[in-house]
Amino acid sequence: MFSTLFAPLLLVVPVLALPNVKHQCCNLSNTTLLLPSNQTALAVPTDAPSFVAVAVGVQNYTCNATALTYSNVGAVADLFDVSCISGTSQFSTIGNDAFGIWNHTSSSVTGQDVIKKLGLNLQLLGHHYYVPNPNTTAGSPAISPKWDFTSDAEKGNAEAFVIGAKVGDLPAPTGKNDVDWVQLKKVEGELANTVYRVKTKGGQPPTSCTVGDPSLSVKYTAQYWLYGANFKR
Ligand SMILES: *[C@@H]1O[C@H](CO)[C@@H](O)[C@H](O)[C@H]1NC(C)=O
Ligand SMILES: *[C@@H]1O[C@H](CO)[C@@H](O)[C@H](O)[C@H]1NC(C)=O
Ligand SMILES: *[C@@H]1O[C@H](CO)[C@@H](O)[C@H](O)[C@H]1NC(C)=O
Ligand SMILES: *[C@@H]1O[C@H](CO)[C@@H](O)[C@H](O)[C@H]1NC(C)=O
Ligand SMILES: *[C@@H]1O[C@H](CO)[C@@H](O)[C@H](O)[C@H]1NC(C)=O
Ligand SMILES: *[C@@H]1O[C@H](CO)[C@@H](O)[C@H](O)[C@H]1NC(C)=O
Ligand SMILES: *[C@@H]1O[C@H](CO)[C@@H](O)[C@H](O)[C@H]1NC(C)=O
Repeated sequence: MFSTLFAPLLLVVPVLALPNVKHQCCNLSNTTLLLPSNQTALAVPTDAPSFVAVAVGVQNYTCNATALTYSNVGAVADLFDVSCISGTSQFSTIGNDAFGIWNHTSSSVTGQDVIKKLGLNLQLLGHHYYVPNPNTTAGSPAISPKWDFTSDAEKGNAEAFVIGAKVGDLPAPTGKNDVDWVQLKKVEGELANTVYRVKTKGGQPPTSCTVGDPSLSVKYTAQYWLYGANFKR
């Protein structure tokens, strides 16, 4: 009788006692996005980023039976905070380092495992995935990329997501095996006004396909730079 009555209370008390502390990123006011000096496809940001994340994930493709090339049909990735290593040499190599492990692991290995294997303890900020495009204007893509921190670093903050639309595209300066560097503008959400995908590694499909080829998930890593977060933390 005693234990069934009081056990639930004992479980609840410590939860209520926890302060509502959100993940604190390190100060990014001196961190600037370096783009190739001769490119004009992506606008060079002039302000400081709100978040910089390394992404570990996959790009998904299906065979386009008309073009006989793969079409991108979305992506999924875990996003880890790299603000606290922004002053270190690891900041620029982490995507490559993570890809070196990620590209050779079985499906049971997670992005978090890859980061741990690098000897780093980076906070999970959130997830990158695709949703139906909320912008239903004719000519808009059917699906749109989303960056969502609402279940992780910004748990409880319903505005901490952004859905984007591509406004600029630069072939990866590192070569054709790496997905393009892109700039996106906000369509919905308060996590950012502008998002950049840069420092990509992997993620490209084979150059051609034949009708009936199965869908593919191609592993990639990248950095996402989010500018103009517009919510109270
Ligand atoms: C970040 O650092 C800059 C310059 O060092 C400072 O002006 C700013 O107040 C800091 N921001 C936060 C949130 O601590
Ligand atoms: C940014 O750089 C300025 C000038 O070098 C320095 O005084 C300041 O402490 C730096 N702020 C951060 C957050 O690193
Ligand atoms: C920029 O310069 C690099 C290296 O010189 C070259 O490979 C690339 O094609 C150039 N890109 C543009 C957009 O001119
Ligand atoms: C398939 O390729 C054709 C020809 O390039 C193109 O018009 C069409 O939009 C593509 N379909 C999809 C779903 O990407
Ligand atoms: C992409 O493929 C992965 C499996 O590799 C799957 O879990 C995910 O739901 C797919 N996402 C999209 C948007 O197609
Ligand atoms: C919605 O889509 C149209 C057509 O693609 C585009 O011109 C417009 O900028 C989009 N609006 C937003 C908010 O993304
Ligand atoms: C990933 O690994 C495969 C072999 O497992 C290799 O063919 C491919 O080139 C690697 N991807 C990149 C971008 O290096």
